[in-house]
Amino acid sequence: DWTMAAYRDTKIAEIRAQVGDKKVICGLSGGVDSSVAAILIHEAIGDQLTCVFVDHGLLRQNEREQVETMFRDHYNIPLVVVDAEQRFMAGLAGQTDPEKKRKFIGGEFINVFEEEAAKVGGADFLAQGTLYPDVIESVSFTGGPSVTIKSHHNVGGLPERMNMQLVEPLRELFKDEVRDLGRELGLPDMFVGRHPFPGPGLAIRIPGEVTKERCDILRKADAIYLEEIRNAGLYDAIWQAFAVLLPVKTVGVMGDARTYDNVCGLRAVTSTDGMTADVYPFDASFLTNCATRIVNEVQGINRVVYDYTSKPPGTIEWE
Ligand code: XMP
Repeated sequence: DWTMAAYRDTKIAEIRAQVGDKKVICGLSGGVDSSVAAILIHEAIGDQLTCVFVDHGLLRQNEREQVETMFRDHYNIPLVVVDAEQRFMAGLAGQTDPEKKRKFIGGEFINVFEEEAAKVGGADFLAQGTLYPDVIESVSFTGGPSVTIKSHHNVGGLPERMNMQLVEPLRELFKDEVRDLGRELGLPDMFVGRHPFPGPGLAIRIPGEVTKERCDILRKADAIYLEEIRNAGLYDAIWQAFAVLLPVKTVGVMGDARTYDNVCGLRAVTSTDGMTADVYPFDASFLTNCATRIVNEVQGINRVVYDYTSKPPGTIEWE
């Protein structure tokens, strides 16, 4: 009968058969999917695998350090970390259109990745943490067959361009199964249970122009919100929770001074696959406390709102 341990062994044998003694390169996003794919492939072929983590400056607080610690120190998996923040910020300057932002980030990600792959000495295979819902969503996103709601960020196009074959050991799995597989592979609970994080990162949580300064502001607010969620023991009950930074300034008062600063939105949803989602019904006091902390502790934000829109008609991300 079927167990995750057996699935893991089957996949390891398949990966070995597919790859032989060739080299594989894997782009890590810091998310569960690419992490589980990388660890599984590393179990199968060891140091024939190189992982590349592109720091595009659109990551959450401490995210890069967590990935480095996890892969290098805990698993001993060869990891190249690329500091590409300036490149991405330069390219995002002046861009406000959501699709253009997504397209730029996806394209630039491929450019950086390709350069790094060349430095590593090339690889014959590209590993991806593609899941079953990704396979479906790339055909039809939320709106039906011919409507593109959002262009999904992935490394599509890269395999052809680099003349590489794909290794996608998670293609048959749903998110909860990937988490089980992650546990089977010894991934710490804290990592296995992480909320999904989109490829374009914080850029799609900053409607309007993305700058390093705005990313820094958002990172702080997001970290406070998530800390409160963890402290309240609610993290695992939520599919995704995050802060967004709106391109709107409003008037407030701090002490006896007038403020004129940014609005922060908070989002939290429950879902099983991200295709539909319900708003997480926090207690009002929980949200009040988050709002107070964020306004007091984050310079640049003087107002906090909560997003009460389910999906559909809203999407989970704001862009
Ligand atoms: P939306 O906002 O469309 O998102 O309701 C559904 C789920 O997909 C994630 N998402 C992405 N994931 N690349 C990704 O890897 C992307 O470009 C992307 N856009 C959205 C989103 O975080 C949610 O979990």
